[in-house]
Amino acid sequence: MNKTVYLKFSFVFLLGLFIYSCYNEYYDLPPTNLEKENLIPKPLSILATNSSFILDENTSIITPDEEVFISAGNFLSKKIKDKTQLEIEVNLEESKNKGRKIIINKVDKNTAVDDESYELTISKNSIIINTQTAEGAFRAIQTIRQLIPYKSDSPKNNLWAIPTGTIIDKPNFEYRGSMLDVARHFFDVEDVKKYIDIMAYYKMNVLHLHLTDDQGWRIEIKSWPELTKIGGSTEVGGGKGGFYTQEQYKEIVAYAAQNYITIIPEIDMPGHTHAASTSYPILNGKEAATLLSSDSQSDKKAALYTGMKVGFSTFDTNKEEVYGFVDDVIRELSALTPGKYIHIGGDESKVTKQDDYACFLGRVEKIVAKYGKTMIGWDEVAKANLSTNTIVQFWYDKENAKLASSKKMKLILSPAKRIYLDIKYDSLSKYGNRWIGYTPVDSSYNWSPEKYIDGISKDQILGVEAPLWSETVSEISELEYLAFPRLIGVAELGWSVEENRNWENYKERLVNQTPYLNKMKINYFPSKRVDWKKIKAK
Ligand code: ACM
Repeated sequence: MNKTVYLKFSFVFLLGLFIYSCYNEYYDLPPTNLEKENLIPKPLSILATNSSFILDENTSIITPDEEVFISAGNFLSKKIKDKTQLEIEVNLEESKNKGRKIIINKVDKNTAVDDESYELTISKNSIIINTQTAEGAFRAIQTIRQLIPYKSDSPKNNLWAIPTGTIIDKPNFEYRGSMLDVARHFFDVEDVKKYIDIMAYYKMNVLHLHLTDDQGWRIEIKSWPELTKIGGSTEVGGGKGGFYTQEQYKEIVAYAAQNYITIIPEIDMPGHTHAASTSYPILNGKEAATLLSSDSQSDKKAALYTGMKVGFSTFDTNKEEVYGFVDDVIRELSALTPGKYIHIGGDESKVTKQDDYACFLGRVEKIVAKYGKTMIGWDEVAKANLSTNTIVQFWYDKENAKLASSKKMKLILSPAKRIYLDIKYDSLSKYGNRWIGYTPVDSSYNWSPEKYIDGISKDQILGVEAPLWSETVSEISELEYLAFPRLIGVAELGWSVEENRNWENYKERLVNQTPYLNKMKINYFPSKRVDWKKIKAK
């Protein structure tokens, strides 16, 4: 054998050995069961085919040639990198495209099919997402993220096995939200972005920001600058407060949009308005507020409220200036908010006369409509004479929810007893409120939006939203302690059909979220109602 032949022979031999060892890697993989994966929320249907798709450095992603789909592909590539260190190319040239593929496939629009629905077919050689929108692709991508194991199946060769089968999926409710109260304590843009990341991972699609309350005004309104200068200068407990400039708010809106989450801003009125009325005393409708007639900045600051009581403030609903103010605020906010909803609060206006309250809300509803938006209000707004377009957010009084439903208004369900994330888990909870008792993790999950209020059927329910009031929390880690793991259960209540929701099964899947929660450095509450040692996730 001359030297060249010898070298060629050795090369072919080594190549063969290499291919054999790779093949062996696959060959050794145990059978899989896609139906038993720890997906949250549980998809509509899963059919397992018991084999594996191997994700490795040769895998690439192919998307339709449209910016929104390419962005979805890039998002998946980035998340795969974060989890596995693999560099997965998106839309590689055909000639370089040698490995297995993850294909996003745009199918024809069928109006009967939801924009968020998708079909995911995982076989040994490919992963195919069939969807009609980039939003559907984005939801499917969350499923893929959850299916990639945390540990490589072969650290030597950097291989990651994804179980094969077919998932057909779509949301049970179109509205799956959470609310952050950034008024009682202010949370900055980075905190909100982190919350958005986690919501997106669990397929939630609405973040409601409670931007104003007695203790603080948190959004820059250029035509009324004192709102943030005075009203944004403190918070519960007397801390330094804060506010979003319009640029920062736009940054949150844009970040949420990249994650297919809609921001709904809330300006709470006519009650919960002490910070606004202190900034501009002309707005104030509370008779006893003598200090508030002062124009001095230091007097105004001194008059701000840093306690935790509710129900003591109101706008003067009989003054035209108040409607001019509301018009300016809604105009500026609508221009910054691409989503169709503006939340106007309307809760606990205990010192507003009932007739004044109804008249005020009727006028506010018209202002919101004038700027092309649909109004949402807390359940008390059902008592005013509003149009059927306005959405009622049930939080406490079932009679208000029934009244809204009798008026053919749609409902968002946020029962305080079940999904107010600020309620303490139990008597040992470090943070939280307890005006409605305790809400352990199981009781937060174990209820049915479809059956919660007698006489209100599923078609009247837009969806569910879990609010997190921030009187007792001032740091993101404290907020996380209250939100997690309960928010994850709410994501399933919103997405998964009733037949697919079951506490015993859910809690097993929940335990297996810990690698993700730990990687995201989420300070979740390790509830004793869940056996955290039963973790199987690799
Ligand atoms: C509310 O909890 N006051 C809506």
